[in-house]
Amino acid sequence: MLVGLLISLLLLTSSESKDPNIEEEELAAYNFLLAINRKTEENDNKVAVASWAYSSNLTEENLQNQLTVAAEAAKDEKETWQRVVQYDWRRFSDYNIRRQFQLYSVLGQSALPEDKLTKLQKIISDMEAIYSKAKICDLKDEKKCDLALEPDLTNILAKSRNPEELSHVWLQWRNSVGPKCKNLYIDYVNISNEAARMNNFTDNSEYWLHSYEVDDMKQQVQNLWEQLRPLYLQIHAYVRFKLRQQYGELVSEKGPIPAHLLGNMWSQSWLNVADFTLPYTDVENADLTAELVKQNYTVTKIFRTAEEFFKSINLTEMPETFWNNSILSKPKDRDIICHASAWDFYDRKDFRIKQCTEITLEEFIVAHHEMGHIEYFLQYKDQPIKFRDGANDGFHEAVGDLISLSVQSTKHLKKIGLIKSDTENPKIVLNNLYKVGLDKITFLPFGYLMDLWRWDVFSGKTTPDNYNCRWWELREKYQGVEPPVDRSEDDFDPAAKYHIISDVPYLRTACTNMTVYKNTTSTGHSF
Ligand SMILES: *[C@@H]1O[C@H](CO)[C@@H](O)[C@H](O)[C@H]1NC(C)=O
Ligand SMILES: *[C@@H]1O[C@H](CO)[C@@H](O)[C@H](O)[C@H]1NC(C)=O
Ligand SMILES: *[C@@H]1O[C@H](CO)[C@@H](O)[C@H](O)[C@H]1NC(C)=O
Ligand SMILES: *[C@@H]1O[C@H](CO)[C@@H](O)[C@H](O)[C@H]1NC(C)=O
Ligand SMILES: *[C@@H]1O[C@H](CO)[C@@H](O)[C@H](O)[C@H]1NC(C)=O
Ligand SMILES: *[C@@H]1O[C@H](CO)[C@@H](O)[C@H](O)[C@H]1NC(C)=O
Ligand SMILES: *[C@@H]1O[C@H](CO)[C@@H](O)[C@H](O)[C@H]1NC(C)=O
Ligand SMILES: *[C@@H]1O[C@H](CO)[C@@H](O)[C@H](O)[C@H]1NC(C)=O
Repeated sequence: MLVGLLISLLLLTSSESKDPNIEEEELAAYNFLLAINRKTEENDNKVAVASWAYSSNLTEENLQNQLTVAAEAAKDEKETWQRVVQYDWRRFSDYNIRRQFQLYSVLGQSALPEDKLTKLQKIISDMEAIYSKAKICDLKDEKKCDLALEPDLTNILAKSRNPEELSHVWLQWRNSVGPKCKNLYIDYVNISNEAARMNNFTDNSEYWLHSYEVDDMKQQVQNLWEQLRPLYLQIHAYVRFKLRQQYGELVSEKGPIPAHLLGNMWSQSWLNVADFTLPYTDVENADLTAELVKQNYTVTKIFRTAEEFFKSINLTEMPETFWNNSILSKPKDRDIICHASAWDFYDRKDFRIKQCTEITLEEFIVAHHEMGHIEYFLQYKDQPIKFRDGANDGFHEAVGDLISLSVQSTKHLKKIGLIKSDTENPKIVLNNLYKVGLDKITFLPFGYLMDLWRWDVFSGKTTPDNYNCRWWELREKYQGVEPPVDRSEDDFDPAAKYHIISDVPYLRTACTNMTVYKNTTSTGHSF
């Protein structure tokens, strides 16, 4: 990239000039960029280090340190921004320079006054701590009150077929997180909007969507969803029918599906109900979680297998720092944020995953997804700092998800010895495609409504006295699920999902690009 820049600048200076002033300014801008890129890279590294220290060890001291480091970096960012906007960069002829200036010209949350920014970051960290430290009691043994989301509640929802237990876990999780986060969330919305307005966006939803660089993003996503909806309705109706066979009158014939019966805390993937809903029961159905255990998979072996996969498609192996610094199992001696994540430390060397990995098929796939992010980091590590990000919000998730789609194909699973049966048998192929649908198609309305809800929250259309009601309206309208018990505004169920309380947009997981799934399903065996 840098070499490219130099060459194009040389060309620029030797070609006949239209406006010598702007040419001179562009040359100065190039040197300026080198300096601010170095500073930004250093700061991004410091912020990542402090943020990792807190996320992987939730103590007050680490939180304070994270906030201090972030505030210092924000101060530099604001200073840089003030200098960036002095340049007449829109007139520069070199696209790379113009593009970097454009990225620098949106300041983001650092536009806030220092005390407000620290307050906002503290609110988010506090919500993350509430979420990550929450524990609930066992249904049968009231004295056993140390059940955590990962792995305990996740496992119960995946495996238990006792509706009373499922409902208990579903409800207690929400009760232990939601109400504690409600007031924090109201403040979070207020300050996030303030930051967005300081960047000349109307509210935070507009700020979130600007990286897609289209004006009609909301409309585009809605159109895509409408095209997919008929397929979703078919899966929904089919699964509801199978759930009625399993659970009887608990599941209505025509209405929404009770959210606690779908094998996942948020009903966002239904893969865990595959065992009793498969279309063909007269062919071998490998339980891949059992198979992983049987084959003595360890956490390291899961990640080594993922790495082998990436190497097999000519992508990069994980650097030594990855294996030295990642946290791949849940530590016993401290609280950490278990939600799986991939980290770029912006020093071109240090890349890590933090995942409380269990030996299950789901986690096996998540490991590939997270490593997809690392592959992307590795591919762009030598780019100027502002280019070291997804092309837009959706791209990063798409890399990982594209990979996990291939990983779930019968062909690949057979190749790595997880399934032994005849992968050409159409019934087996269809069972497998059905499972992919249970994971991917069922996810889409959830991925969409997470941000639909927040767009209206940020714009003020949905007010705090309506948060939960609106959440359940959308859950019913898009996903066709309902809560197992009545909910009210004393509850705050959106907060029971990590990306809501951690300030991470979610559209990225659903939108790039629904068309892919449409195509996959229409051609049947295409992967
Ligand atoms: C967690 O952070 C504290 C500082 O708050 C530190 O003393 C402790 O050693 C850390 N624990 C681990 C395992 O890194
Ligand atoms: C948001 O914060 C401002 C002060 O920063 C306050 O005046 C306003 O009432 C707050 N709005 C809400 C909805 O809390
Ligand atoms: C917002 O717009 C005003 C007026 O056009 C401008 O002075 C200011 O620099 C802009 N702020 C940001 C952060 O872009
Ligand atoms: C798994 O471990 C058990 C006990 O150590 C051993 O008997 C078995 O052969 C191993 N299986 C595989 C596939 O390595
Ligand atoms: C693998 O990637 C390298 C560059 O990283 C490239 O030179 C090579 O041609 C690629 N091989 C294949 C088979 O695509
Ligand atoms: C990784 O850890 C090993 C063993 O502790 C050590 O020898 C090596 O220098 C470390 N490598 C890096 C790049 O940190
Ligand atoms: C999705 O892909 C289609 C075709 O590839 C493209 O026209 C559309 O703009 C994309 N939509 C989004 C939201 O990326
Ligand atoms: C869908 O698949 C068909 C046939 O495989 C292909 O020609 C078309 O380009 C694909 N469309 C998209 C949007 O990927």
